[in-house]
Amino acid sequence: MARLVVVSNRVPLPRTKGAASAGGLAVALQSFVAPGTLWFGWSGRVMERTATKPRFVEGGGVTYATLDLGAEDYDRFYVGFANSALWPLLHFRLGLMRYTREDFDGYLAVNAAFADALMPMLRPDDMVWVHDYHLIPFAAALRARGFAGRIGFFLHIPFVPASVLEALPPARDLLRALCAYDVVGFQTRTHLADFLDCARRFTGFTVEGEEVLTDGRRVRAIANPIGIDAAGFARMAARSAGTAYIQRMRESLVGRALAISAERLDYSKGLPNRFEGFARLLARFPNQQRRVSLLQIAARSREDVEEYQTLRRELDRLAGDINGRFSQFDWVPLRYMTQTVARTKLAGLFRIARIGLVTPLRDGMNLVAKEFVAAQDPADPGVLILSRFAGAAEELTEALLVNPYDPDEIAEAMQAALEMPLEERQARHAVLRKAVFEVTSARYCNTFVDALAA
Ligand code: G6P
Repeated sequence: MARLVVVSNRVPLPRTKGAASAGGLAVALQSFVAPGTLWFGWSGRVMERTATKPRFVEGGGVTYATLDLGAEDYDRFYVGFANSALWPLLHFRLGLMRYTREDFDGYLAVNAAFADALMPMLRPDDMVWVHDYHLIPFAAALRARGFAGRIGFFLHIPFVPASVLEALPPARDLLRALCAYDVVGFQTRTHLADFLDCARRFTGFTVEGEEVLTDGRRVRAIANPIGIDAAGFARMAARSAGTAYIQRMRESLVGRALAISAERLDYSKGLPNRFEGFARLLARFPNQQRRVSLLQIAARSREDVEEYQTLRRELDRLAGDINGRFSQFDWVPLRYMTQTVARTKLAGLFRIARIGLVTPLRDGMNLVAKEFVAAQDPADPGVLILSRFAGAAEELTEALLVNPYDPDEIAEAMQAALEMPLEERQARHAVLRKAVFEVTSARYCNTFVDALAA
């Protein structure tokens, strides 16, 4: 069998596994990759210059090869084009997009440097699977260096309609770069349809069904939703619920309901709207005061990007406002923390929560929604409140779906969840659980690899 080579900007090096800030990509893949796999990407370190030779670490039979980034490359590639232009654009936030040609050049240069470093390690029959928006030009860079094997790409975040994408000056270059892959994967059918439409409009290539015909090659586009190891997460949650940590949490709640949210501190996650929604719950349904606490875990992320610093200050202020306004001497409504929490602890917290509040303004998939479902006790499950604009909403239709731009809708969904009878909670959870146990991370990986091998 061909060797699998995974390429992603973040590499879950063995010693950093389990960090809650890792994001869906690393989490879904790290449980799947088979011994013998080569995983290549950024080391997470910034040095004076970008390295030319990778450093190797072994773990579970997988070889991890990583490169340090130089300070200027880090600024232009990671802070700049990837996270100040592409990330906001692909989350429908044109107002936050900061584009410069220098950043785009830096983005191309890092992709080229990564390709230079990987090339000598590649065997002709390797299958290369590239992940996420940092590395869109990676296949073109490998092809330019003579690699002729199969290369696939999966986009973990949303894809946007042509009328949004056209605002990005190098939109056409990126679409042509995507057409250098053999397979291009998206989280949902909507993202897939938008990609095909953009390919038709911007590249001059022909689109036939779900394939793009380039000069001499075929690119297959697929929708392949990412999932979790549902059974594993459910076991972890059940175990975790019996630990001293979760016992302490229970004691601190003194019988009150727990609502929980956990993610990276990112403007795509809709945190200010959620805080406002919670404040409206307490104001409009005052009988819920003292009866519920919201634990918001917002792990600090991308702190060198200005928008993230601004958001953090805003959340500090909003959290202070809410707690100043509603707290009583023995009850604090909002517990807000920006540290990361280990996944095992998170699983236990999900299990004892009455509400999982997952309200991003946009999200490619959102695996927290799936983890929350898997973590519940089917006999007495909590309620998932989910944004319509998370990819997960296409599958998790029995959640309470909300438009996260309307804080009153969030408040009303919380009220409904707190008052929901046991039978309805069980019925909704049973349907959600089935969906989460069906579309697992293993299925996601197999589907993609099969498509790439075809
Ligand atoms: C999202 C992205 C991932 C990224 C993760 C963490 O999940 O899709 O590609 O790795 O966020 O962000 P960071 O900037 O820390 O890598």
